[in-house]
Amino acid sequence: MSGGAVAIWLIVIGLAVYAIYQPGEHHPRTTKLLVIGGGAVFPTIVLTGLLCFSLPMLPDLHRPAPSGSLQIHVSGVLWWWRVDYIGPDGEKIATANEIRLPVDQPVEFKLDSEDVIHSFWIPSLGGKVDMIPGRQTRLQLHPTRVGTYRGACAEFCGKAHAQMNFDVVVMPVDEFDDWLARQSEPAKQPIEPDAIAGQQVFFKYGCSACHAVRGTDAKGKVGPDLTHFGSRLSIAASVLKNNPENLARWITQTHDVKPGAEMPQFDSLPDDDLQAMVAYLEQLK
Ligand code: CUA
Repeated sequence: MSGGAVAIWLIVIGLAVYAIYQPGEHHPRTTKLLVIGGGAVFPTIVLTGLLCFSLPMLPDLHRPAPSGSLQIHVSGVLWWWRVDYIGPDGEKIATANEIRLPVDQPVEFKLDSEDVIHSFWIPSLGGKVDMIPGRQTRLQLHPTRVGTYRGACAEFCGKAHAQMNFDVVVMPVDEFDDWLARQSEPAKQPIEPDAIAGQQVFFKYGCSACHAVRGTDAKGKVGPDLTHFGSRLSIAASVLKNNPENLARWITQTHDVKPGAEMPQFDSLPDDDLQAMVAYLEQLK
């Protein structure tokens, strides 16, 4: 794109310089040729060509997804991604900021936004599609290679736009099925003493007002669902790798990690409470 832009810029500036240094009133033949050829004939040919090329592709935009496509509903939220897998009976399996896909299977994303316009983009797998409040857009993909890919918001949406990313993991089908089955289950009750203490801390500081942990009294809908938080690769919409040190940093230095984030910063959390909460969240696998 940069190369193409430089070439066009050079041609345009070259023509402008050429035009400026033309002598006086009379227009030599080459100038007329340039104006008629470059200003009318050339664009007509190029635009007609592009139109003929793209018109036959229009119906593809409304082509229904192949039957049996995996259905995933993704909403853009300032500045993270709400991800709901839709089960065969229409039931929702909530997760956030990470999308796992089975290899060699068709998938259809239903995309929308809860606030401003975002854009859903997994550069290695397909084109970008806008996420527009009050309207549902769709994207069909068919990943062919197992791997981990990066997804990003491709529409400037405010302060933390650059930190609104997600991880995409394309997995062998049987591993994916296991993963989805685990995701559909409620959270395990903590067993280790520090995790049990951490669960109490989680409620004590009001985390459950915004976050849901299915199977517990945490039913908040404002922030990401944390039911299987410990199984995710990253924290804060793919800003930090998911490990205990980074989670502690995210909880206590939220606004340094991600300026503008909605979550309050718990910088005065006593260290015992912090470590317990980290233990609790990381064992939610
Ligand atoms: Cu969301 Cu940029």
